[in-house]
Amino acid sequence: MEVLLANEYGFCFGVERAVEMVEDALGVGAPVRTLGPLIHNTQEMQRLECEGVATVQEPSQVSKDEIAVIRAHGVTPQVQAELEKRAAQVVDATCPFVTRVQRLAERAATEGRHVVVAGNPDHPEMIGVVGYAPKNTFVVRDADEVANLPSLHAPLVVSQTTLKLQTFLEVAEAVKAKADAEPQVVNTICSATRDRQDAARALAGLVDVFYIIGGKHSSNSIKLLAVCQEQCAESFLIETPQEINPADLKGAGRVGVTAGASTPNWLIEQVVKRLRDIGNQSNGNNGSRVN
Ligand code: F3S
Repeated sequence: MEVLLANEYGFCFGVERAVEMVEDALGVGAPVRTLGPLIHNTQEMQRLECEGVATVQEPSQVSKDEIAVIRAHGVTPQVQAELEKRAAQVVDATCPFVTRVQRLAERAATEGRHVVVAGNPDHPEMIGVVGYAPKNTFVVRDADEVANLPSLHAPLVVSQTTLKLQTFLEVAEAVKAKADAEPQVVNTICSATRDRQDAARALAGLVDVFYIIGGKHSSNSIKLLAVCQEQCAESFLIETPQEINPADLKGAGRVGVTAGASTPNWLIEQVVKRLRDIGNQSNGNNGSRVN
């Protein structure tokens, strides 16, 4: 049984960077507190908790002897300032792609322009971005919501980093009708999500069984599962190697593996190892060659 990994899988650049920054902070020796869960992966969070990382919900929960970490989604400047006031040190792990959206919004607002961000207003990334230009920014979920906006002055149109391109383009088009000048449209979508989906799609047609490793409630993992199921009916979303049922692999020649953007490498390695072990066992039982 051959185990094939998708060309792109697992931690995106921003999440990997954030985890590395937390690891570095642990090396300082002070307690490390992340504002909100660092990543949406239970197993990785448990590992970090064992190393001394705890999650807090409010800046007020951070004390003077602790290191506060801003996660990849970023925060408002007000929250950052409060953390700096309270913590021994602040580690800013905001993904540079998110920082770019914050800076663009801030600059447009300084110039007296409006900012339209296509995204989910309740998402922490969007709350952070709005904080950089609170008086001038509107977050809209889709083009329909643009109709509810007032007239816009020389608007900048940007996007939540994980949004679908189609939604962003529709919002940008709709903004034209509300604007007193041609909108400045800057596509700030990060390609990490799309790259993982494209790679999964490319592999799904070549395998008999597909395992997607990621949180059962993680939206990007659920989307990866849907992409794989389009071409491989035997696709399974699992969080740990223990969830692999050897019966599902009976007769499988090729098994595909991918992982959501919050799934750590060590978990992926464990899954691949278990798959290889199962493959070797069945080869052994059949008396055939062990790969
Ligand atoms: Fe950054 Fe893109 Fe990941 S914005 S946090 S690299 S999904």
